[in-house]
Amino acid sequence: MSRTGVSFFLTATLIALCVVSARGQGRQGLFQTAEEFTAHARGQEGCVSVECHAGFLGDRAFSHEPVMTGSCEGCHEAQAYPDSFGISSDQRALCAGCHKALEGKLQDSQFIHGPILNSDCSSCHDPHGSDRPFFLRQDYGSLCTSCHAAARLFPGEFVHQPVNDGNCGLCHDPHASNIKARLTDAGANLCISCHEDMVSGMVMEYVHAPLIETGCTGCHDPHSGRDRNRLKMPREALCFSCHELKEQEIGQYSKKHVPAEKGECTACHSPHFSEFRALLKGKTDEVCYGCHEESREWEKRRFQHGPVVQGDCTVCHNPHGSDNTFILRLAFPHKFYTSYEKGKYSLCLLCHKEAMIIEEKTETATNFRNGDINLHRLHVHQEKGRSCRACHDVHASDHEGRIRDEFPFGTANIPMIFSKTENGGRCIPGCHRERGYDRVNKVDNNR
Ligand code: HEC
Ligand code: HEC
Ligand code: HEC
Ligand code: HEC
Ligand code: HEC
Ligand code: HEC
Ligand code: HEC
Ligand code: HEC
Ligand code: HEC
Ligand code: HEC
Ligand code: HEC
Ligand code: HEC
Ligand code: HEC
Repeated sequence: MSRTGVSFFLTATLIALCVVSARGQGRQGLFQTAEEFTAHARGQEGCVSVECHAGFLGDRAFSHEPVMTGSCEGCHEAQAYPDSFGISSDQRALCAGCHKALEGKLQDSQFIHGPILNSDCSSCHDPHGSDRPFFLRQDYGSLCTSCHAAARLFPGEFVHQPVNDGNCGLCHDPHASNIKARLTDAGANLCISCHEDMVSGMVMEYVHAPLIETGCTGCHDPHSGRDRNRLKMPREALCFSCHELKEQEIGQYSKKHVPAEKGECTACHSPHFSEFRALLKGKTDEVCYGCHEESREWEKRRFQHGPVVQGDCTVCHNPHGSDNTFILRLAFPHKFYTSYEKGKYSLCLLCHKEAMIIEEKTETATNFRNGDINLHRLHVHQEKGRSCRACHDVHASDHEGRIRDEFPFGTANIPMIFSKTENGGRCIPGCHRERGYDRVNKVDNNR
């Protein structure tokens, strides 16, 4: 037989043998004993010869260097038989022999991937080479989901784009890390590396505590969810899941502000960060006008109440709810007639002096006096007292002293004509004849 004849015969026999034994033994390996392997390895022109393992060379986009150089014995050792293919059952140790940097990282890491704990590198890498970078056995995404069922991991209809693209490695280290779930970065940093528009928010005056403490995943599912925002739970339950006290507080109020009751917290608050206190989405009054455009009406009135002008709506209204009408923070009677009791006007007395309504005679406590007779007390401080609302419009009005142009009486609105004089004023209120008062020259209204 010629040389080519011999080599043809050898090749054919070896291929046949390989196929037969591979079929017969499965992953048990080609050789049952060290001797068989040693004999094989000493065969014609080494392992990577045209005769047998030519397939390990050339036809892959990426080949492992020790395979290229024909150092099969670097990994396939006679001692290891009859283990699979003569590969030591401790693959991690095998690879670590050359990949010291990775092994160092594994040793320094708290969280190591399951397959590596099983010392199994080749479930992801083809140890000889493949058409994918890093000799991966499958494309990244399908590699991971071959063990982690997608249906369990991202069941939501709205899948986060990098997850959908199979870019698991942008968030997870495939081997190990010191962050739970082997994340590539901690907390919010994991997310803001891509969500750059949020970086500027992280240095705002007010940053919501969980962004710093738990990162973005305190609220968002990183993989999928029922809507684009992929919140971990229904929006109306999300905020209460941490703010239990706020839920109790709102629950106890007899008058609940509708959006707070419904859990529409983000109508007013940013879940992330803000330049405004309490993470408000804007200046307090602007937030309110978002739904109460009509209460902007005061801007057209000539005489405007200080705190309203300052946009401080919540000094009087509790944005979440209260036990008072109009979700007022403190007591303020709504009816026209109301018997006087201490504490009934606490809302106004937050800023105005009580003397204004309780001192019988005064030259300082109020301008609403006839000589030294306190007309505030006269109207307010009695069994059938008038509330402040009977005369004043709390937000604003077109009359000096923010006196109303009409006052609500039962179901009717009764007109009220008020004018100031140099040292007092005159009033035709619809409930009694014209009356006047003067601080310097006391008016005698009985004449
Ligand atoms: C870096 C270590 C390493 C080197 C170097 C290496 N192998 Fe392997 N080889 C393995 C591992 C690990 C397996 C088991 C693969 C598995 O678990 O699927 C294997 C399996 C095999 C198999 C059986 C399964 C298959 O993929 O066909 C053959 C044949 C084989 N190697 C031949 C070679 C030859 C020939 C060389 C030298 C050209 C070589 N190996 C070099 C690690 C290596
Ligand atoms: C005999 C030494 C040796 C052994 C054993 C070895 N490798 Fe390698 N490996 C190399 C060399 C050399 C390179 C090419 C240089 C480099 O990129 O580090 C390489 C490259 C790689 C790469 C590609 C790295 C890149 O940056 O592209 C992967 C993945 C890899 N090896 C995985 C393994 C796995 C898995 C094992 C164990 C089954 C293993 N290696 C065992 C020497 C070895
Ligand atoms: C769960 C799949 C998986 C397992 C198991 C796995 N790797 Fe990797 N490995 C990857 C992926 C994916 C990459 C691509 C780089 C990346 O995403 O960081 C990679 C990259 C590498 C690299 C090149 C980059 C680097 O980090 O140095 C080496 C070397 C490597 N792996 C070796 C190993 C060794 C050794 C083992 C076993 C101890 C192993 N791998 C186990 C998936 C895996
Ligand atoms: C060969 C099967 C296999 C493959 C492939 C695989 N994993 Fe895993 N993975 C496991 C096992 C086993 C565990 C540990 C058991 C568990 O937590 O369920 C695990 C755990 C995890 C965990 C949870 C870790 C923790 O601390 O909670 C993450 C995250 C993960 N894998 C991500 C990936 C990513 C990303 C890929 C693709 C690069 C991948 N896995 C590929 C088998 C696999
Ligand atoms: C945008 C970043 C990101 C991407 C992309 C991503 N993950 Fe995750 N993954 C996370 C975070 C964060 C956690 C931890 C969740 C937690 O702590 O609530 C996690 C947890 C996990 C877990 C463990 C928890 C569990 O539910 O079992 C697995 C497994 C996992 N991811 C696999 C994957 C796979 C597979 C992919 C690619 C298809 C992927 N991840 C893509 C961020 C990501
Ligand atoms: C690898 C880059 C990347 C990383 C890392 C990343 N994202 Fe994304 N994210 C995207 C892309 C791309 C979109 C789709 C952009 C779009 O549709 O506007 C998106 C969309 C979102 C959306 C929906 C926004 C919308 O309006 O549709 C949310 C919420 C989100 N990501 C949260 C997170 C969180 C939380 C993390 C960290 C666990 C994170 N992202 C990490 C790339 C990333
Ligand atoms: C306290 C819970 C919470 C935390 C923590 C949180 N988010 Fe959100 N996020 C939400 C809510 C609620 C929405 C929906 C907002 C809305 O519709 O008004 C949202 C919406 C988004 C959106 C889409 C709409 C937009 O505003 O652009 C992105 C993107 C987003 N979040 C990313 C992040 C990132 C990145 C982090 C971490 C830096 C993070 N989130 C942390 C609750 C949170
Ligand atoms: C993961 C837990 C968590 C979730 C979910 C959460 N918060 Fe918070 N929130 C906190 C912590 C912690 C603080 C800081 C301590 C405190 O003030 O109670 C805080 C503070 C606040 C503050 C006060 C900020 C300040 O400057 O006084 C507001 C307002 C707020 N959260 C609104 C919300 C809203 C709205 C949601 C729903 C989108 C929400 N929170 C969801 C944990 C959470
Ligand atoms: C109508 C707008 C609005 C809605 C809706 C709203 N808030 Fe507020 N919230 C505010 C304002 C304004 C403040 C600032 C406190 C102040 O001015 O007295 C605040 C303050 C807070 C604070 C910090 C101070 C405090 O009172 O404890 C928390 C926490 C808070 N809100 C949580 C929530 C939660 C949770 C929800 C959803 C149930 C919610 N808010 C709904 C407007 C609102
Ligand atoms: C997301 C929309 C929304 C925002 C923002 C909002 N409100 Fe309201 N508010 C409502 C709804 C809905 C009602 C109940 C409808 C009604 O009775 O007219 C209401 C009712 C009220 C009432 C009357 C309560 C009662 O018992 O009759 C007052 C007062 C009020 N809001 C003040 C405010 C203030 C102050 C702010 C800003 C801190 C604000 N609202 C922001 C939706 C909103
Ligand atoms: C000085 C206390 C005070 C301030 C500040 C204040 N309010 Fe009022 N608001 C009241 C009182 C009292 C009522 C009850 C109705 C009345 O007496 O006319 C009321 C009623 C309302 C009502 C229900 C009105 C209706 O006719 O149904 C809304 C809405 C309202 N205020 C919004 C606001 C907004 C928005 C701001 C900030 C721009 C604001 N309030 C500032 C005291 C105040
Ligand atoms: C947060 C503080 C604050 C609260 C609460 C408050 N006020 Fe005032 N009030 C002021 C300030 C400041 C002025 C002086 C500036 C101005 O004229 O608006 C004022 C002025 C007035 C004036 C005089 C207007 C004029 O033109 O002479 C009346 C009337 C008035 N308040 C009525 C009330 C009533 C009624 C209440 C209770 C519902 C009340 N205020 C609650 C701060 C407050
Ligand atoms: C019978 C009508 C009437 C009632 C009721 C009334 N006021 Fe007045 N108030 C006036 C008039 C008129 C002035 C203007 C006095 C002046 O400047 O000449 C005034 C002025 C004021 C002023 C400006 C400072 C001052 O005392 O001159 C405040 C503040 C005020 N009222 C608060 C209240 C409060 C709070 C209540 C309810 C407890 C109330 N008023 C009830 C008619 C009334």
